[in-house]
Amino acid sequence: MYPLIDIKLDGIISNLEELKNECSKQNISFSLVTKMLVGYKPLVDYIVKHADIGIICDSRIKNLHVYSDVEAEKWLIRSPMISEVADVVRYSDASINSELSVIRALNMEAINQNKKHRIILMAELGDLRDGCYIDELADIISECETMTNVEVYGICANLSCVNDTFPDEDNMNEFIDIVTKLEKHFKMKFKIVSAGASSCIPMLYSGKLPEGVNNLRMGEGVYLGNVPVINEPFNNAVTDNFVLKAEIIELKKKPSVPGVKPDETSLKTNRALVALGKQDIFLPGLKCIDKKCTVIGGSSDHVIVDVTDSDREYAVGDTIDFLMNYTCLLNAMNSKYVSKRII
Ligand SMILES: Cc1ncc(COP(=O)(O)O)c(C=O)c1O
Repeated sequence: MYPLIDIKLDGIISNLEELKNECSKQNISFSLVTKMLVGYKPLVDYIVKHADIGIICDSRIKNLHVYSDVEAEKWLIRSPMISEVADVVRYSDASINSELSVIRALNMEAINQNKKHRIILMAELGDLRDGCYIDELADIISECETMTNVEVYGICANLSCVNDTFPDEDNMNEFIDIVTKLEKHFKMKFKIVSAGASSCIPMLYSGKLPEGVNNLRMGEGVYLGNVPVINEPFNNAVTDNFVLKAEIIELKKKPSVPGVKPDETSLKTNRALVALGKQDIFLPGLKCIDKKCTVIGGSSDHVIVDVTDSDREYAVGDTIDFLMNYTCLLNAMNSKYVSKRII
């Protein structure tokens, strides 16, 4: 049974409604990033229905395959591998792209499947992950205009994922400048102008997203109520939607530094070992809910918690509760050794 993640659906829906409402006040459509839900269809189905979600996005085509009959438009938000284009055309309506060779392969495959596939082009704004500068975007659009089975559906940007670049008036205006120049040059209008992810939340609330932005794609804000990079909750955010419970398998007083002889005076730290490890979680992203306990280390199968100052008398067999940052949660959700329970 343990380790176990308790998932509070009400809190996730509440965050979704809060963010979606703020977007709709500004005529911005909302795309829910589902990768945290690791292909668990009943959960996605429930959320899509209860929060009235029109677009779901995932970085893994395997997950979108699982969500095939979920009633929402589906976007693949990691540029497809050429080796997976058949599944991309089959299971997604649109994909984010930054390489012409991949788009050519998508077009060929869409011809084979007698389908249309939509392309959302990624603009590079300085985070230095995926994305093209304006000249390459123009070259890609030119060639897409000659392709029969792909449609340039939109343009997007992504910050704060690899580096701590944060959306601000400068880079958002630069994004809209790119959009405007391309629309003018090609005498067309992008249906989707997607400015980014949860790191756009502060600009959304301050009303500073430039006119022209008509979509946001969000994951972390929805699940953890958190604004990445600054690591602060947004207005009315619920931040404890995922609680990880791990069981104590050893509890002993040991010295606080390694390699010390265990005499009476050195036995100061009450160390609880829980059955959870780096196989399941990202150790630096794990935080005890009991504020008087601290994660002090771990190995692939153990996490060590200092419980010396806690008001609670822990015992072997008890569980310790943790909150996780986004990376840690993503690892834990994907670990087959961690059970999930929906509350
Ligand atoms: C392209 C893209 N869009 C949106 C997101 C969602 O980001 P966040 O979880 O910060 O909202 C991600 C990351 O998951 C992404 O890679």
